[in-house]
Amino acid sequence: MDRNSSIGVFDSGIGGLTVMKEIAALMPDESLVYLGDTARVPYGTRSADTVKRYSFECARFLIQHNIKLLVIACNTASAVSLEDIRSSLDIPVIGVIEPGARAAVRSAANRRVGVIGTEATINSGAYVKAIKAIDSSVEVDGFACPLFVPLVEEGLTEGDIPYLAAKKYLGAMSEKGIDALVLGCTHYPLLKSVIAEVLPDVTLIDSAVETARAVKESLQADSMLNSGESQRQVRYFVTDSPERFVAVGERFLGKKIIDISKVEL
Ligand code: DGL
Repeated sequence: MDRNSSIGVFDSGIGGLTVMKEIAALMPDESLVYLGDTARVPYGTRSADTVKRYSFECARFLIQHNIKLLVIACNTASAVSLEDIRSSLDIPVIGVIEPGARAAVRSAANRRVGVIGTEATINSGAYVKAIKAIDSSVEVDGFACPLFVPLVEEGLTEGDIPYLAAKKYLGAMSEKGIDALVLGCTHYPLLKSVIAEVLPDVTLIDSAVETARAVKESLQADSMLNSGESQRQVRYFVTDSPERFVAVGERFLGKKIIDISKVEL
């Protein structure tokens, strides 16, 4: 493994492509290998033990690709397995929770932050812990929005249906006086415009952008940024048939997904 090795990124499915997109945009020379565990998505409704087992299998698969850094691009997997995976590997492991928490604290002038995510992420309390570790005076309200993932998977990111779902989940938050809302699920950045309609005065924190920055900082600190001498390689692996991943994923990424294979973990 050296500075020209790939960055490994995994998610329960296609949602992590929002993180992949930001990493690719911020570090155009880096080679990337992405694993979407599409056969077992969603993770967000499963128990912590199951999510942990799945996450370790994904990490092990990517390690075989000689990666120099691992990104857990799934909030649910980060929430329940980041610490264990980090302590079991000898490369840097970056999750999406800490970067999102840091950005939320920075944006919360009135020290009130909301977090939305899957049931597993919210139940884990990982965001509350991460935000309080940065600034214990910040008040945090967490809320699960289970309908958001299937809406995005169906391509319903604008219009009445996602707006009504956002209104139902987030209407009450407008009375809580939050300054910043962490979009604590890979899929939620795609619902940014309807969420902003419901909460017009709240800063929306996209963990994907913050995570890409954290990846760059880590590589820079270790002098492991790609030298830019070789051609970037981007490969995708999925655990179910690639067709749906390609169709929905290309919409997420805004570009073609070419090098993709189905694998068994
Ligand atoms: N990737 C998951 C997350 O960010 C959302 C989809 C799922 O539930 O697996 O929490």
